[in-house]
Amino acid sequence: MTTSLLSHLQQLQKQVPTPPVVAAGKLVRGIGLTLEAVGCQLPVGSQCMVQTVDGEIEAEVVGFGEHITYLMPTEAVRGIVPGSRVLPLNRESGLAVGLGLLGRVIDGNGQPLDGLGPVESTTRVPTVKPPINPLTRRPIDSPMDVGVRAINALNTVGIGQRMGLFAGSGVGKSVLLGMMTRGAKADVVVVGLVGERGREVKEFIHDILTPEERERAVVVAAPADTSPLMRLKGCETAVTVAEYFRDQGMNVLLLIDSLTRYAMAQREIALAVGEPPATKGYPPSVFARLPALVERAGNGSENQGSITAFYTVLTEGDDLQDPIADAARAILDGHIVLSRQLADSGHYPAIDIEASISRVMPQVVSEEHLMQARRVRQVYSTYQQNKDLITLGAYTRGTDPRVDLAINAEPAINALLQQGMKQVLPYDESLASMAQLAGGLGKG
Ligand SMILES: Nc1ncnc2c1ncn2[C@@H]1O[C@H](COP(=O)(O)OP(=O)(O)O)[C@@H](O)[C@H]1O
Ligand SMILES: [Mg+2]
Repeated sequence: MTTSLLSHLQQLQKQVPTPPVVAAGKLVRGIGLTLEAVGCQLPVGSQCMVQTVDGEIEAEVVGFGEHITYLMPTEAVRGIVPGSRVLPLNRESGLAVGLGLLGRVIDGNGQPLDGLGPVESTTRVPTVKPPINPLTRRPIDSPMDVGVRAINALNTVGIGQRMGLFAGSGVGKSVLLGMMTRGAKADVVVVGLVGERGREVKEFIHDILTPEERERAVVVAAPADTSPLMRLKGCETAVTVAEYFRDQGMNVLLLIDSLTRYAMAQREIALAVGEPPATKGYPPSVFARLPALVERAGNGSENQGSITAFYTVLTEGDDLQDPIADAARAILDGHIVLSRQLADSGHYPAIDIEASISRVMPQVVSEEHLMQARRVRQVYSTYQQNKDLITLGAYTRGTDPRVDLAINAEPAINALLQQGMKQVLPYDESLASMAQLAGGLGKG
């Protein structure tokens, strides 16, 4: 490049002014979920306050047009009128975190919901962080004990793995998450309850966890009746809390219920500010946000701990082709599928082992464990494939030795896969049970 051209460009650059940050503005429109303000040029993501006829409400900048700033309230909209003043909120950014979070229930902003007073925090961390360089992450190389035998033995999860838990409603997701919260070998369990009914949040905390179990858990709740922004933040806050504990060197189990509700919250916001819908009503930003959220979990670098994560994905009408389920399957390292049929027949946890897979299992278990799991799956599949014939009485014993074996082994395999709600089955015990079962199944 010639010097004259360079100096010309430098000259041009000087002429482009940086936009001034004009803070105070006023509302001109309020339609559906969004408020439109003029006169406030605040960065996207910043907080502001809208003065109402009888007080104020908080809102966040979610987008902008040529002269318009789109705001979305984080609380119930009441008392706003055309011309309501919009002022920036000079609040400290980020989330207050510290060991004081243990045992607490907080909302998407980190505020306590449990009535136990303020959360003791030691530092503030940003809620949106650049992703970890994939090359500095520690590889996933050791198994994680989740306290659930069907997972420990047949769908072994590695420390730092990100799994999906795919299921329709009412098939036992919450119970399974509760079992892991209790039984997993983790230093800290962070649970994000997003878009659930308020009653379920209470049930999860009070019925599923005992006071001692709550001691090592942090629950972030953003139930269905909160604003989409709060639901979005609920997920991000849960991940941020998990990151904080990971950065302290701890092994964290992160449970997000549900990733689908997170996607739906983003859909509500994006559609409200005018982003066009793409796949089944989901705008493109949804499919950008999902991997960004999921990538934040996983192993840290050498001196950090880990985040092993389970994200529940709703399969409405048990439809596995849902765009969110599809996207999730592509970005997660495996999935546990819960089957309504199993749940209906009283088989709990209703894990469909034929449809479930942990992609890192071969990396984290011994060759022997892998062979045993494979053998149990084979025999189980043989039974499932011939189930109709067997139950109809159309199969005569002695016709096929493989089917005979499957029929004989079926009760034992089902017993291996089932587990009571309050029962914790550690990793070694799970392996011993499977080894015993597989020992009787031969080589196949
Ligand atoms: N391991 C289990 N043992 C016995 N019953 C279970 C088990 N898991 C789930 N259930 C039954 O299934 C019901 C629904 O489970 P839940 O976890 O609330 O479903 P979801 O969260 O998927 O809507 C529970 O109320 C319980 O009766
Ligand atoms: Mg539930």
